[in-house]
Parts: sequence; structure tokens; C-alpha cells
Amino acid sequence: MDDGVVDLYYEEIGAGKPVVLIHGFPLDHTTWLPVSNLLATKARCVLPDVRGLGRSPVTGIETSISSMGDDIVRLLDRLSIEKAVIVGHSMGGYICMEIVHNHPDRVSGLGLVATRASADTPEKAAGRLSDRQEVLKNGPAKLIDTMASRLTEDPEIRDQLLEIMKKNSPEGIAMALYAMAHRMDATEYLEALSIPVAMVIGIKDVFSPPDFFKTLSKWVKNGHIFSSPTGTHMILMEEPGLVARALEDTFLS
Ligand code: MLT
Repeated sequence: MDDGVVDLYYEEIGAGKPVVLIHGFPLDHTTWLPVSNLLATKARCVLPDVRGLGRSPVTGIETSISSMGDDIVRLLDRLSIEKAVIVGHSMGGYICMEIVHNHPDRVSGLGLVATRASADTPEKAAGRLSDRQEVLKNGPAKLIDTMASRLTEDPEIRDQLLEIMKKNSPEGIAMALYAMAHRMDATEYLEALSIPVAMVIGIKDVFSPPDFFKTLSKWVKNGHIFSSPTGTHMILMEEPGLVARALEDTFLS
């Protein structure tokens, strides 16, 4: 899909080895602030807003995970970063897996937080596309309410997420839903990897259940698993110390 070139909004925190932290759906870069604050003495953390969400441009009502990955690589070019550790939360993980496939020479390590490599089942994809129609017709309030109650059990974090989600436009949310519904299965991309991979799982995650990681760890040659019995999908905000330690141990020590 040729859906144009965009300059992503991003923030930078810290100095050291470049680590790009890519947020999930329908969120923004601020979800990575607790982890990046902990990594700041060791890493140059780059926190983009992906196309269509946060403060990055909305370019229509459709896009692809692969275009979202190309946006990140263009950001690396803008920042003169030749190679980076790339880390993705949930949809950010889907984007990372496309980057390792399409631009392997730009990635020195891969972090996968509360995500999965498989494509959507036909039923799941159809559900997303019907949510997308609803968002475009009636706005995202219904989707946001349903998601907020499932993303985390922590009421304070849930309130923060509601604030973030409400700032996103219906079109930007529709773009991301379209991209996720049409994404490729990335399992084979991961099997072919020889770079270090850190995988972080919240055992109470209802969006990306832990089973995926158990299977994946058998295939990924250089993978390290970090899990929390209390973590949910928003483990990066609930337990930033665990996520920062996983990234530090795998990529920064
Ligand atoms: C996310 O957090 O990015 C989404 O839950 C991912 C998804 O819906 O597959």
C-alpha cells in the first residue's frame, strides 16, 4: 500500500544505545514514559507516536502495519540512527515484527511486550473491520469504553488510558484497525532471527494471552522471557521496573 510519507511526532529521553519504544492501540508514546524514565541513564530512548495516533499525522482511513514500520525506519534516518533496539507493545510489537522482516539491517535487538506474532483469525479481523465502521459512523466512544475495562485492572492507569484514547481521532483509530485486521502472520519472521529477543508477558493479559510466548520461545533462537503473575496488557505502565530490567538485561548490559 502506498499511503504516503509522514514525519512522525516523537520524544527522546536519555543517552546511550538507541532504543525505540513503539506504543499499542489506540494509545500514544506516553504509555512508554515510565519505562523510558528508568532506562534514561543507559539508553537513548526514542518514543514515536505511530501514524494516525497521538500527535502524528492521520493520512486517511486505511494504512498497513508495514507502512507504519517504514515510518519508524524513516524516523531512524532523520535521527541518524543506523541500528536500534526496537521494542513494541501489542500493536507496536506487530510493527516491530514488520521492521525486522523488511529492514533487518536496522535492528540490533527486538523487544516484544504483551503482543503476538500470529495474524488475526478471519473472525477477529471481521470484528475489527466492523468496529472500524462503527468508529467511522458513530465515533470511538463505545470501542474506547470496552477497551478501557479490559486493558488493565488498575483504576488510575485506566483513567490515564481513557484520557489518551479520547484524544485520538476516529480516522486515526480506523486506520490502525484496518492495518491490524490485514496484517501478516509474523511467526516465520521470528523463527529466522538471530538477534537477541526479549519477550515480556503479563500472565493476566486478556488481549495477548501468555500462550503465544510459550510456543514462541521454542522457536526464537536467542529469546529471553520475562513474566509477571500480576501483569495485564498494560504491564509497561503497571510494572515498568520489570519491563526496564528485561530490556536492560537483554540489550544494555
Ligand atoms: C494493542 O494493545 O495494541 C491492541 O490490543 C492490539 C490488538 O488489538 O491486537
